[in-house]
Amino acid sequence: MAGTVRREEVTPETWAIVAGRPGSAPGATLNTAIVAASTYVLGGERVYSRTEATEGWDSFEEMLGGLERGDAVAFASGMAACAAVLGQLRTGAHLVLGEDCYQGVAGIAASGVRAHGWRVERLAASDPRWVERAGAADLLWLESPSNPLLEVADLAAICAAPRGPRTRVVVDNTFATPLLQRPLELGADIVVHSATKLIGGHSDLLLGAAVTADAGELERLRAARSLNGATPGMLECFLALRGARTLALRLRQAQASAEQLAARLGGHAAVARVRYPGFGTIVSFELADAATADRACRATRIIRHATSLGGVETCMERRSAQPGQEHIPPGLIRLSTGCEDLEDLWRDLDAALSAADRAGPRVSSRSGGESARLRR
Ligand SMILES: Cc1ncc(COP(=O)(O)O)c(C=O)c1O
Repeated sequence: MAGTVRREEVTPETWAIVAGRPGSAPGATLNTAIVAASTYVLGGERVYSRTEATEGWDSFEEMLGGLERGDAVAFASGMAACAAVLGQLRTGAHLVLGEDCYQGVAGIAASGVRAHGWRVERLAASDPRWVERAGAADLLWLESPSNPLLEVADLAAICAAPRGPRTRVVVDNTFATPLLQRPLELGADIVVHSATKLIGGHSDLLLGAAVTADAGELERLRAARSLNGATPGMLECFLALRGARTLALRLRQAQASAEQLAARLGGHAAVARVRYPGFGTIVSFELADAATADRACRATRIIRHATSLGGVETCMERRSAQPGQEHIPPGLIRLSTGCEDLEDLWRDLDAALSAADRAGPRVSSRSGGESARLRR
């Protein structure tokens, strides 16, 4: 579909732009058109939109599969992709999950414990025991950097570790994107994505994908999508592909801002701790307590107080406010940087943090009875 360009010939940044095009015939559109169709006339390649890939999926899958160095299967959401992978686990399976993995995945795991007797073990992303677990567990489910503690797993070591006969390694690559990390090249079996985030990039769609280089896995993923009806919409595929055209540019800008903001937050009087893994577009930082974090989130004017991440608009939220995230430090804010000007972002953040801190509870200081702020 990408004319004469093969993915091996170009950089991932260029592939995100040239892939998934209708072709080079005179008069062809540059972009794959949205085809609103559930049903096709029999006798052709396509029959029904839940069972055969539609034009819109093909283009999106070609782009993402090429970036991840595998074959992509698009799903209606990131959670639909995760469910398709986890749904293949046998009764009594041993599943290893990150301690702070995405709460939806933890939710599927918890229901698997009740319904299918799964044994679920939770390890911090940086725990060296992941490597040992590769020898015996059914499934290692890795998020790196983790969400929202931003711990980094040694993916190369875990993917290269000797595997048990049934062991599969799955990496959720939503936070890093294939421009920063390609787990299939390291030996992972499946990569999953919430394309809702950085790939789509504009907070206007829900879409997911699973990518694999293994023909058997590919067939199982497609079958699960079709059977469960977890099929993506044409508009969502169109928008996500359009978003992916600028992924490299957006990532570059957002990552540069994340690096700068992490450094500046480290020197801010209201901030107790900053977590930034050195790459990516997410920074987590801790304020004195949940109330201070809530005040800061409500005080910004440019940065949006919203969940989710990976859009052009910078967003932040107190993560422990989300259901199932009560184990996260109460004052931890997850900041997802977008593409606004860095200095505008910093002025907004600095002012909001200072105002939230000033409005905090006061206690008598031990020396001399002057009022002082409760901090950390
Ligand atoms: C790391 C990660 N994986 C998966 C998901 C689920 O994706 P979706 O919301 O597209 O279903 C999310 C959503 O926030 C996520 O952050």
